[in-house]
Amino acid sequence: MGDVRVRVMRYNPDEENSEPHYDSFIIDAKKNMTVLDSLFLIVEDQDPSLSFRCACRLGMCGSCGMMINGRGRLACRTKIEHLGDEIVVQPMKNQPVLKDLTVNMDTFFENWQKVKPYFVPKEDTDEFSVIPPASGRREIIDENQDCITCGLCFQSCDAVAIRGDDYIGPAALSRAYNLIADERDGAREERLDLVANEEGVFGCHSFGACVEVCPKGIKPMVTIQKIKGKKVRRSLGLKW
Ligand code: FES
Repeated sequence: MGDVRVRVMRYNPDEENSEPHYDSFIIDAKKNMTVLDSLFLIVEDQDPSLSFRCACRLGMCGSCGMMINGRGRLACRTKIEHLGDEIVVQPMKNQPVLKDLTVNMDTFFENWQKVKPYFVPKEDTDEFSVIPPASGRREIIDENQDCITCGLCFQSCDAVAIRGDDYIGPAALSRAYNLIADERDGAREERLDLVANEEGVFGCHSFGACVEVCPKGIKPMVTIQKIKGKKVRRSLGLKW
């Protein structure tokens, strides 16, 4: 493939007089090389001070989310050969930069906590409650199970950009739906109350960016509409 220019946004808020700016690096790109590989090459050969997160390099841990050529992507699953001769890499949006491509995800995970994101067994359950994999009930709760909490939906969300901490965001709301839809869960009522409000599903603008960027094919915007439907059905006294 040959030379590719990688322009990386640099910023260190802890450094006096640091301003966001771009540094350019030329790398010798090889077939099947990913953007994450290119960042490692830069660290190894050109600038060891470049900061970014990663762990699994397999698209499973969710830690390498960043903006690549203007779109939120996982760096470890994005091949350079599809990006042209110049690649622009920026940190995720909607979250403060800690250094270079590393952002502070505290708000994302605090919002995750707000929806009571764990299964709560019904009080009368004294054994594991199993739903057979092939059943329709299982298909409902399979939705969103693949979420790797990468934060790409959160960083692309216009409602988060506008309202900041006042909106829970797509990932946490999708997680809430899975539990609300799980008939075995004992906290469905409480969880629906936690998210069926302006801070939750009624704060969604339905722009759909979360659906476009999710590397796992999850559709948070669709899920959010389903929660709204459950809220309406419960309000009318119908089965939800
Ligand atoms: S390094 Fe784990 S998802 Fe990219």
